[in-house]
Amino acid sequence: MPQPRVLMCAPDFYGIEYEINPWMDRRVGSDSALAHQQWNALRETLEGLGAKVERLDAVPGLPDLVFTANAGLVFGNRFFVSRFKHGPRQGESVHFARWAREHEFDVELLPENLEFEGAGDALFCGETLFAGYRTRSSVRSHQWVAEQVGVQVLPLELVDERFYHLDTCFCPLDPSTAIYHPAAFDDYGRSVLADRIPRLIEVSAEEAVIFTCNAVVVGKAVILNAGTPRLSRALSDNGFQVIPLHFSEFIKAGGSAKCLTLRLDGEEAAAWRLRPDPGASNS
Ligand code: ARG
Repeated sequence: MPQPRVLMCAPDFYGIEYEINPWMDRRVGSDSALAHQQWNALRETLEGLGAKVERLDAVPGLPDLVFTANAGLVFGNRFFVSRFKHGPRQGESVHFARWAREHEFDVELLPENLEFEGAGDALFCGETLFAGYRTRSSVRSHQWVAEQVGVQVLPLELVDERFYHLDTCFCPLDPSTAIYHPAAFDDYGRSVLADRIPRLIEVSAEEAVIFTCNAVVVGKAVILNAGTPRLSRALSDNGFQVIPLHFSEFIKAGGSAKCLTLRLDGEEAAAWRLRPDPGASNS
């Protein structure tokens, strides 16, 4: 099994400088020293689990660059760079694209009129790409990406502004298991998930609002925001090991564990990561 590779960006210029989701409040601000401490704890935990953490340099004026889940979508060697919906994040894309190019990915750009926020909104579970839309990414962007890589995409409408990225309310753990917060989806979305994912574990409203669904998975280990006794029990009953950490400073920007990472070799739940030459570009 190849070593897990994760992209992270230190919170050197992180802060709450604008408001583009209901969690952000410029008047509250974040504590820089604590943010670094929480970010380092995540990095060290990932390394302790055997992952190689790759670094993107922080850039002044781009406080949300820490949320590398939004860099793009990785499929094999192909890196589909995000096109952010909101102006303040649009300057991030060139940095993500440069990093990917310098690290030997085939960088692919979406058509200019499509909004796409990468692995924040598009997550593989088994062979299928589950894709959140409405608040950030557009349905057409997901369809475009899925067509390029030849996978089936199932768009899920995100109906609660607080869960504005798919990774705030849904997290695949392995090709047939995921956690999700049902109220973040409409009836159709809930039925799609129930039909397609054999083991679907519910996250309650109390646990969802502390970003429990925003988890990082490495093997059977699930790193998530501390304070989730119910879900932790359910996960250990299903053979997963929960590692609780603290992410208070990032939750102030609407992000937690998962948002701070981009899995470069394919998420645990993505069936393609086990294939010999996934995503080899035909161009
Ligand atoms: N402040 C950032 C935004 O609103 C937070 C991004 C969190 N990332 C995520 N993948 N959910 O875009």
